[in-house]
Amino acid sequence: MVKLTVEGVSKHFGDTKAVNNFSLKVEDEEFVSILGPSGCGKTTLLRLIAGLETLSEGRILFNDKIVNDVPSRERNVSMVFQSYALFPHLTAAENIGFPLVIRKVSKGKITDRVREVAELLKIVPLLGRKPRELSGGEQQRVAVGRAVVRQPDVLLMDEPLSNVDAKTRAYLRAELKELQRKIKTTFLYVTHDQTEAMTMSHRIAIMREGKLIQVGTPEDIYEHPKDVWSASFIGSLPMNFFDCTLIDKRGVRAIGAVCFSPQSPKNIMKMLEGLEDGTKFNLGVRPEDIEISKTRTSQLTCEADVHLLEPMGDSLIVNLKIDNTIMRAKTKPGFKVDVGEHVYITFDWSRAHLFLSSDGASLHKV
Ligand SMILES: Nc1ncnc2c1ncn2[C@@H]1O[C@H](COP(=O)(O)OP(=O)(O)O)[C@@H](O)[C@H]1O
Ligand SMILES: [Mg+2]
Repeated sequence: MVKLTVEGVSKHFGDTKAVNNFSLKVEDEEFVSILGPSGCGKTTLLRLIAGLETLSEGRILFNDKIVNDVPSRERNVSMVFQSYALFPHLTAAENIGFPLVIRKVSKGKITDRVREVAELLKIVPLLGRKPRELSGGEQQRVAVGRAVVRQPDVLLMDEPLSNVDAKTRAYLRAELKELQRKIKTTFLYVTHDQTEAMTMSHRIAIMREGKLIQVGTPEDIYEHPKDVWSASFIGSLPMNFFDCTLIDKRGVRAIGAVCFSPQSPKNIMKMLEGLEDGTKFNLGVRPEDIEISKTRTSQLTCEADVHLLEPMGDSLIVNLKIDNTIMRAKTKPGFKVDVGEHVYITFDWSRAHLFLSSDGASLHKV
């Protein structure tokens, strides 16, 4: 097993900086997800680590060894792709065993090892089938089998669950996590799906336009997003944002925003200490941190109209309209409310976030 170090790595394609001064350490036996939107450079980064592209700048190390000039086949890295890329004319067993055939491993050993991997992935009954006789999820299990069969030092996965249906994806998420726990290979997993990153990884690295924005545990990133962009990317429902301005009313500092009175919670005021009056910022509140009531409950309550209801089964998402701003609040499934109803909302201010409008940077919670 190895510790993977990516140090100041860039990859330019003409004028495009697909990866831009990216640094990340993945510890031995660690599962790290790279989370970012399409086109942010995730695949390019994996290809650099696998040795399928040459670096424009920086270094990649496996333990203490710089591998920049080590050819791909000597890196002991496996990669799983979104398109399963199985050989259509080979059976599942032959597909899984293929990397060992090229390495001239004996037939008996290949049979044993394929069996071992198939048991691990719970696909023993499928071993004799060709890819066209397998569902998408089963094909991806075979592709994972082929990737782990030769015990790679680093396992790279490039959006492996994007092509499978939602239910299978949920199963495979748990299975891949368990697989990593069993085989203990260093995993670097690329996804644009925040649920996958949140549920599977020890740590998440958020990537945008070739750059690393933030790296941390799922809880850490959820609780302390570094900027407005990171905040909007994490969470099964997007965070609500409100444009605010810091104002001074006869010596009393307050936030001026669409929905609340100048009396502002102490923790929020503390976060704004040292900023000039007139500073613009975004207040971020997650849907689960908004409480809806039928009556006014405190001075910090504001009024809203119910705009739309989204029943989710395990919860009810209420879309609220305040002036021209729409926001979403998550309530219990049995919550009784009608479209058009006038309601009162209260934020859990201890869980609110503030971001400077100028550059989106988070003003840290106090
Ligand atoms: N071989 C290539 N030649 C030119 N541009 C490329 C090449 N590969 C990727 N790019 C560009 O680099 C950027 C990052 O692409 P990619 O790494 O595939 O992103 P992601 O996997 O996050 O969707 C994109 O703008 C893409 O068009
Ligand atoms: Mg990609």
